[in-house]
Amino acid sequence: MQPIRAIVTGASSGIGREIAVELARRVAAESPAAESPAEQSRIVVHYRSNLEGARETVRQIHRFGIQTHLVASDIRDADDRRELVRQAWDFLETPTTWINNAGADVLTGDAKDGSFENKLRLLMETDVLGTIELTRAVVQRWSSASDLPAQPPSVTMIGWDQAPDGMEGDAGQMFGPVKAAVMAFANSLAQDLAPRIRVNTVAPGWIRTAWGESTDAYWDRRAREQSLMRRWGTPQDVAAAVCYVADPANSFCTGQTLVVNGGFDRTHR
Ligand SMILES: NC(=O)c1ccc[n+]([C@@H]2O[C@H](COP(=O)([O-])OP(=O)(O)OC[C@H]3O[C@@H](n4cnc5c(N)ncnc54)[C@H](OP(=O)(O)O)[C@@H]3O)[C@@H](O)[C@H]2O)c1
Repeated sequence: MQPIRAIVTGASSGIGREIAVELARRVAAESPAAESPAEQSRIVVHYRSNLEGARETVRQIHRFGIQTHLVASDIRDADDRRELVRQAWDFLETPTTWINNAGADVLTGDAKDGSFENKLRLLMETDVLGTIELTRAVVQRWSSASDLPAQPPSVTMIGWDQAPDGMEGDAGQMFGPVKAAVMAFANSLAQDLAPRIRVNTVAPGWIRTAWGESTDAYWDRRAREQSLMRRWGTPQDVAAAVCYVADPANSFCTGQTLVVNGGFDRTHR
């Protein structure tokens, strides 16, 4: 991978950490040493509250010789979003790669015992409103820059494989409309911004992060059986897909949704 100036939101755990670390690993591994791509590359590690987790992500990135900057901000808050964009531009100069991974945890975090309405509201405020407003601020900043990178910079959104067709139960009724909105926004934005800026979505299926590690036998079996590959997806599987669509070399890739679910098996439920 070519040198990058990247930010990963929600990089203090799970999929976001893996994306940030995999970007660093590829930059360090795939470029000729003489060009010192690692020295030219920088990554902003964003988080909201899990400082220890964010520091662990930074520690893993530093193994590849890439500079990092830590930013804490709540993407639901307009001032926090402004500050995040300001710090990203200060540190990265002009970002090449913006990964919108942050999303509310309503399955294992403080919100897990709340009502359906409260969970939906939190998801809407974070994943939909927060992400869309943040992305619009980033695009505005890029659009007013006189020095856009030679290859189009990219935005990558995180969706959900089952959002377009739907899933039964409260989880389907929450994550379905939330992630479908994110995916629809990405598709519309890609139309507006091409060919100057690329916008893609990676839509994970059942990925084993905190909820997957502690879930019951029914969901464990269902996650394995609904994938044609007969296993849970891993954060590494998602990170590999994000690295593909975000790689500056893949300059023909925009308006795409890359589904990462091992192939959905429609004969199982
Ligand atoms: N795991 C799956 O099976 C799966 C499937 C489809 C889609 N996804 C999506 O993939 C993304 C990552 O999921 P994950 O499983 O890795 O979750 P995770 O481990 O809970 O990570 C979520 C990240 O988002 C951050 N975050 C949460 N609320 C925020 C807010 N208001 N402002 C800023 N940052 C905030 C968290 O920060 P702090 O912890 O520091 O507060 C954390 O870094 C999410 O968008 C999720 O919806 C996951």
